[in-house]
Amino acid sequence: MNILFAASEVAPFVKTGGLADVAGSLPKALQRAGSNVRVILPLYGAIGAHWRNQMTFLFHFNVTLAWRSVYCGLFSLEKDGVTYYFVDNEHYFNRNELYGHYDDGERFGYFCRAVVECIPKLDWVPDVVHCNDWQTALIPIYLKEDGNRIPMLASIRTVFTIHNVEYQGRYGRETLEDLFGLPAYWYENGAMEYCGDISLMKGAICAADFITTVSPTYAQELHYAFYAHGMEGILSGNAHKLQGILNGIDIDVYNPATDPALFQTYTADDLSGKARNKQELQRALGLNLEPDLPIIACISRLVPHKGLDLVTTVLSQMMELPIQFVVLGRGDWQFEQAFVNARQQYPSRLSANTMYSSSLAMNIYAGADLFLMPSKSEPCGLSQMIAMRYGTLPIVRQTGGLKDTVSPYNQYTGEGNGFAFSDYNAHDMLHVIREAVSLYQNREIWHTLMQRDMNADFSWNKSANEYLHIYSRLVQ
Ligand code: GLC
Repeated sequence: MNILFAASEVAPFVKTGGLADVAGSLPKALQRAGSNVRVILPLYGAIGAHWRNQMTFLFHFNVTLAWRSVYCGLFSLEKDGVTYYFVDNEHYFNRNELYGHYDDGERFGYFCRAVVECIPKLDWVPDVVHCNDWQTALIPIYLKEDGNRIPMLASIRTVFTIHNVEYQGRYGRETLEDLFGLPAYWYENGAMEYCGDISLMKGAICAADFITTVSPTYAQELHYAFYAHGMEGILSGNAHKLQGILNGIDIDVYNPATDPALFQTYTADDLSGKARNKQELQRALGLNLEPDLPIIACISRLVPHKGLDLVTTVLSQMMELPIQFVVLGRGDWQFEQAFVNARQQYPSRLSANTMYSSSLAMNIYAGADLFLMPSKSEPCGLSQMIAMRYGTLPIVRQTGGLKDTVSPYNQYTGEGNGFAFSDYNAHDMLHVIREAVSLYQNREIWHTLMQRDMNADFSWNKSANEYLHIYSRLVQ
C-alpha cells in the first residue's frame, strides 16, 4: 500500500514541536511494517545545507491557488528507506520562523495545492494521503474538489490526524473563494463554516475519510467543550470515523544506551551512568552538587495549557521540599519571568533556562529524577515517554496521552510507573510532588520504578499497525 504523509514539520529536517517527532518517526515505522511511505513537507529556509546537499531536484510546475499561479519546485531525498519530498517556494518558505506570519493561510493553502497538484506528476500513486493538523487540512478538501475532474485523485483516501485541536486555521469568510479557490458551497453547506468564518480544521473533519487523534483519552476528551475549542459538535457528529491512537517515540533516537548527547550512556541494568549525568547536569547548570536531592525537571513550551500556572502558584511551597528544580523552555512572559525571578531566590537549587536547546534537553532527561508535566490538556505528549525511557519518573495530570502512558504508583500493590493527579489544582499537584519526593528516599522501590519505565515499550510497533489497519479498511 502506498501512503503519502503530509506534514508542516518533520524531524530531523525541521522541528518546533511534537508533530515533527511524529512525522519523523511514524513513517519509518509504517515502512518497516510493510507499507510504502513517502513524506511531503515545505522546503523551509531553516532546512540546512547538510540536507539540501543530499536532495535531488525532480521538476517544477505552477500551482493554481484561486487566481494565483505560483512557482513550485519539487525536491526529494531518501533516508532510512523513506522518500521525502520538499515543496520549494522561497517567497512562502524562506523565512526565519515556520509559523506566525500574516499570510500563513496563503502559505499553507499553497502547500496543500502543491501536494494535490504534484500527485499526478509523480511516478507513484498514493492509496492514502495522511494529513496532519490544520496546515494540511485543505488536502482532503482539494482532493474531493479536484477528484471531480481527475479520476485518479477521486480514488485516493484521506486520513486527517489532529495533534492539537487548539490550532484550527480560522480565516475570514472572504478567503474561501479568493484565497483558497473553493466554491461557496463549502461554506453554505456548513462543512467549513465556523461562527461566520471558515475553519480549515472543520473542513478536514468533514472531508476526510477518517480522523485520528494522538491518544485514546484525547479522542474521548474531544467530545467536550473544555478540550475541543469549539470542535466538539462536529467531532461528536463524526465520531463514527474518529479514533485515538497513541503516539510512539523513536526508540533508536531516544536511547540512553547510545545517546551521544549524554555525559555517560547507561541502561536499565547498569544505572551508574545516570548518577554521573546528574552530577554533570548540576555542574553545568550551576546547582549544588547534591547526589541525594531529587531533581525535578520541566521541559516545556511555557504556555498556559501546559499547566505552568499550577507550578508558579505553588513554586515557593515546592522549593521548601528537599529538591532541585530545573526548567527549560521559552514562552509567555509571565512564566519566563516567574522562573527567572525564582532563580534569584534559590540560586543553588533552581535553574531557569528560558531558551530551547535539544542537547540540554537530553542532558536534563538523563540527569533528572522526576519530570513534571501538569498539562491542562495534552493530546499525547512525548516528553513523558522520553523521560521514562531515560529512567526519569513522570509527575503528570491525568489528561489525554498523559493518562494513557502514566499510571500512578500504588504503594499497596506496587503497580504504576509514575505519579499523577486528576483535578486541575495546584495543591493536588503539590501533594503528589511531596509523595514522589518522599518515595525517592526509598532507593529500592525507586530503582524498580526506574527499571520498569526504562523497559517499557514506547515504540511505534503497536500503533503503526493500528494505522495500517485503518488504511487497509479505507482502501478496500
Ligand atoms: C502536539 C500535542 C502533543 C503531541 C504532539 C504529537 O504537539 O500538543 O501532545 O504529543 O502534537 O502528536
